[in-house]
Amino acid sequence: MRNKTILFILLNLVTIVLMAQSPWEVPADRNAKLSTGAFTEQSQTAGKDLYMTNCKSCHGEPGKNNAIKLVPQPPDPSSTQMQQNSDGALHFKISEGRGPMPSFKNVLSSVDVWNVIAFLRSSNKDYKQQVAVRPTFGGEVFDKVELKLNWEAAKNAVTAQLSGTRGGIVKPMAGLEVKLFAKRYFGNLVVDKPVDTDAEGKASFTFPKNLPGDASGNVVLMAQLSNEELFGLVKTETQMSIGVPTNRPPLNEPRALWNVVQKTPIWLLITYLASVLIVWGFIVYVMLQLRAIFKMGE
Ligand code: HEC
Repeated sequence: MRNKTILFILLNLVTIVLMAQSPWEVPADRNAKLSTGAFTEQSQTAGKDLYMTNCKSCHGEPGKNNAIKLVPQPPDPSSTQMQQNSDGALHFKISEGRGPMPSFKNVLSSVDVWNVIAFLRSSNKDYKQQVAVRPTFGGEVFDKVELKLNWEAAKNAVTAQLSGTRGGIVKPMAGLEVKLFAKRYFGNLVVDKPVDTDAEGKASFTFPKNLPGDASGNVVLMAQLSNEELFGLVKTETQMSIGVPTNRPPLNEPRALWNVVQKTPIWLLITYLASVLIVWGFIVYVMLQLRAIFKMGE
């Protein structure tokens, strides 16, 4: 048993050391991948925020060489080891992770990862960004791709309209998958299964009759193009008053259970104080009895 444990630990160590030494292979297509958007001051700022929360704890701050000691060592963002990666390789490594380097593909969207890369590159003076050729759709390059949400009461459906603009002319975009969510306190709720846009660029979602909204029945709906790789993150948010009006007691309501002492429900306060008094009373009683026994002994 003991030998097996030692063998297990040794094997793990060997794997880690081997991984540290083997170069990190990036598939050719991922290596050549480029961001469709140019890195701007805005994307760098967004990327900096993401970096500080998700990466700084291991990689440290750019140029300060204050990364934590791990095997393999997380490189400083401005180091040659980091900067010699192509944009696509950075995107791949951040998304997939390896060994102690976590995978971020379920934490950060593809666009978030590009923003982090924009920030990583901001400390490299020799870096010149190459932007991907604009993706085309049916042979057309659009300046802007947009989603809009409408309510069709007759069909009890929410319709998403997908259109591309080119030189001021708006055209519907057919055959692309759209997802619809309702925003909740914690995360998003899938409203209906993904739908492909039809010839008019429309994707129609059945809206459930019993979806709770706020006190006035308002629901914030969010539609998003499923394929982020094509045009980046295309999404829209619209508030519609189509949910079931629901009165949820706010979490900070006076005298709610989850709250500060001043706001505890009175019955709870009394029960609590009474139990504390009874327990202490009992302890004091026992002590007094003990003292009486001692006195008697003397
Ligand atoms: C838990 C610690 C940890 C966190 C958090 C972390 N990394 Fe890493 N990272 C590492 C380690 C360790 C390596 C080396 C992995 C290897 O070579 O196998 C690494 C490697 C990398 C590489 C590859 C460098 C090279 O050698 O080509 C990149 C790029 C990278 N990290 C970016 C990031 C970004 C961006 C974030 C935040 C979104 C992040 N890391 C968060 C530990 C971490």
